[in-house]
Amino acid sequence: MPVSEENNCILLAIESSCDDTAAAICKNGKLLSNVVARQQVHEKYGGVVPELASREHSMHMIPVVHDALQIAGVNPSQLDAIACTRGPGLLGSLLVGNAFAKSYAFSLGIPLIQVHHMLGHIHALLDCSPPPTFPFLCLTVSGGHTQLILVKNSFTLEILGETMDDAAGEAFDKAGKMLGLPYPAGPQIDKLSKEGSPIFSFAKPQVPGLNFSFSGLKTSILYFLQKQTKENPDFIKNNLQDLCASIQTTIIDILLEKIQKAIALTGITDVGIVGGVSANAGLRIAAEGLVQSQRGRIFIPPLSLCTDNAGMIAIVAYHMFQAKQFAPRLSEPVARWELASSYSN
Ligand code: KG4
Ligand code: ZN
Repeated sequence: MPVSEENNCILLAIESSCDDTAAAICKNGKLLSNVVARQQVHEKYGGVVPELASREHSMHMIPVVHDALQIAGVNPSQLDAIACTRGPGLLGSLLVGNAFAKSYAFSLGIPLIQVHHMLGHIHALLDCSPPPTFPFLCLTVSGGHTQLILVKNSFTLEILGETMDDAAGEAFDKAGKMLGLPYPAGPQIDKLSKEGSPIFSFAKPQVPGLNFSFSGLKTSILYFLQKQTKENPDFIKNNLQDLCASIQTTIIDILLEKIQKAIALTGITDVGIVGGVSANAGLRIAAEGLVQSQRGRIFIPPLSLCTDNAGMIAIVAYHMFQAKQFAPRLSEPVARWELASSYSN
């Protein structure tokens, strides 16, 4: 196996689980580049169209990898391993990233490392300065996941609670679609909320323990909008900012209630928030207030590591490289993958 320089470990990581084509280079666990090509093609469809996502990945992959290498000032011959997201995600999208990573690793004669997407989101916290200390609580909130996890160490995790239906990001996106906002609606709702007030109230779920539910909220918003637009067809247009602020506040309240409960149950007050929704300005401020009131510390990755990116995959891959957790050459990507079975302790 080629080793770039004595004791140095240079990795290329690729992320293609959904609609972002991303590549990053890290040297000894520190990111040298983190490039993302976001796919605009899905905006008008109100959600990701899997076939279009795969085609866009095929088009973007080589330019994105090229940029990542160039920004980092790294030559392919210096790479020690190539990492990619194995799953979970859209199978067609994952196939493009895995096929590219495997072929590239094979042609360079270096190992392949396959990473769990959500482990990547959690490991993005280790790039915070200072990083959280183990054990800590981690809320993962993305377009496909909402989980409360007890992180005992880098590779020992216990899921304390998770969503029973929609993910938090999905709740933002589906609510936004009802308001006529383009996909993904989360960032738009975040932006419009800043100009509005949470004057409308929506049903909050009564879910026991640390599990979440967002499908009741979706129905509550739908019925409310149907009733209001019947009386005034311009209701959404005239109240867009207040509607966004009200929806965002309700989602944040649901998330914070469970964080507070998890702190009370475990006595652990260091809390991380990761995944695309952790980019939400309202959530970042509210979570900081809550955790500080519990005399705890909040950790949220920098914005470039919140939404899907390859830097977070590179951070996990660095730990897996040291533990020599390489993928067999025939290992295929997987659309569904339990977090706990994705690594060895
Ligand atoms: O982690 P991510 O980039 O991709 C998945 O793994 O799903 O998360 C994407 C989700 C989308 O649902 C998007 O609307 C949401 O994260 N999101 C946001 C914000 N930025 C992205 N939601 C609320 N506020 C934001 N600023
Ligand atoms: Zn993600």
